[in-house]
Amino acid sequence: MKRLGILLSGRGSNFEAIADTVAAGKIAAEIAIVVANRPEARGLEVARLRGLPAVCIPSKGLDRTIYDGMLVEELKKHAVDLVCLAGYMRLLSAGFIREFPGRVLNIHPSLLPSFPGLDAQHQALEHGVKVTGCTVHFVDEYLDAGPIIVQAAVPVLDGDTVETLSGRILSEEHRIYSEAIRMVLSGTLRIEGRRVLGGH
Ligand code: GAR
Repeated sequence: MKRLGILLSGRGSNFEAIADTVAAGKIAAEIAIVVANRPEARGLEVARLRGLPAVCIPSKGLDRTIYDGMLVEELKKHAVDLVCLAGYMRLLSAGFIREFPGRVLNIHPSLLPSFPGLDAQHQALEHGVKVTGCTVHFVDEYLDAGPIIVQAAVPVLDGDTVETLSGRILSEEHRIYSEAIRMVLSGTLRIEGRRVLGGH
């Protein structure tokens, strides 16, 4: 059974969707540890209510290298095989990525490489795109930049606000994150340049 480590900063709905899929036996993995970098993250409460191991390691005021070292230690302590960023709103250092090569995933609420960074749904509305969506990708040391595993497209409607658009994207996020984890754990993926092949 592969062991997942979840990193989050807030609400934790993507984590919940992954936990549901795991609980339903649809991913051959278990959630070994949930780590939040903010004490007020609702995801921590969600984990505890589900009886999953969860800790807060507050990042405020800490140097990235030092903080990431603490994260690595916690994840290794729980023998994590795959790290899933689920609304984890901090860039990871190259040192962290080196500890888990090809084994860190992130979900982002846009069709990357469009609209990386903060407020992706707001950026999409401002730009006037007609289609946006979400992306699960391998994480490298750059922001929202690693090879893409799965994407889903979502229409932008005339009456959309950031809230309505975010909600429509979020439903797809919940679906594709588990799909991407399943693909990665299947061991059939290979990376050629920037392309992730062998998923379908
Ligand atoms: C999700 O929309 C996720 O894609 C986004 O934060 C939200 C977290 O929601 N992540 C990023 O923007 C990362 N750059 P959640 O805490 O309910 O999963």
